[in-house]
Amino acid sequence: MHNLIAPSILSADFGNLERDCEMINQSKADWFHIDIMDGVFVPNISFGMPVLKSINEHAKKPLDVHLMIVNPEKYIEKFAKLGSDILTVHYEVCMNNMHEVINGIKKNGMKAGIAINPNTDTNVLEKFINDIDLVIVMGVFPGFSGQSFIEETYQRCFEAKELVVKYDSSALIEIDGGVTVHNAKKLIDNGADVLVSGSHVFKANNPTEIIQKLKDI
Ligand code: DX5
Ligand code: ZN
Repeated sequence: MHNLIAPSILSADFGNLERDCEMINQSKADWFHIDIMDGVFVPNISFGMPVLKSINEHAKKPLDVHLMIVNPEKYIEKFAKLGSDILTVHYEVCMNNMHEVINGIKKNGMKAGIAINPNTDTNVLEKFINDIDLVIVMGVFPGFSGQSFIEETYQRCFEAKELVVKYDSSALIEIDGGVTVHNAKKLIDNGADVLVSGSHVFKANNPTEIIQKLKDI
């Protein structure tokens, strides 16, 4: 399978959201990556339901929604109604009710993902690897775009892929945070299937070209 590219809307120009959604529609990108932050689980607040609704009205590709919020189970139905195709929750906030949360996501017609922070052991995925569609291995501590990539992520990506292979899981491995055209190849070589890229895409003079480059790796 060719790797998938999911530009992160967090780095878009929110005054020109329709234009930036159209750029992604026209580009070689596969998914829209959408970061929802609550100011509790992470030290930042991004955007919420009304913005997601607008993105859904313009996006012509699947919405890959990354929840960096506490108590995500409260909002599963709402995120389904707003057009989310894949809903990912963090292991760090759902470790005690993860099976219930995954089932809730699937019952609402979405694919389910688990994200792990850079300091969370990849082994925690083992219990859930056959129940999920996506693993997000964070390349930075979540909260902000534009941070530098943490080098240990290559090894963590490899470990997550090893679990997928060991259990014959169909889960894809997504790397989120600090991804650029410079580290993309090494990430793919270590098992990444999906690359999220925010600032590297949107700060470029020609975002479409960067997406194309990431896709061609
Ligand atoms: C980080 C977010 C990322 C972020 C990626 O908390 O989950 O999706 O938008 O941005 P870059 O690619 O700039 O690190
Ligand atoms: Zn994200």
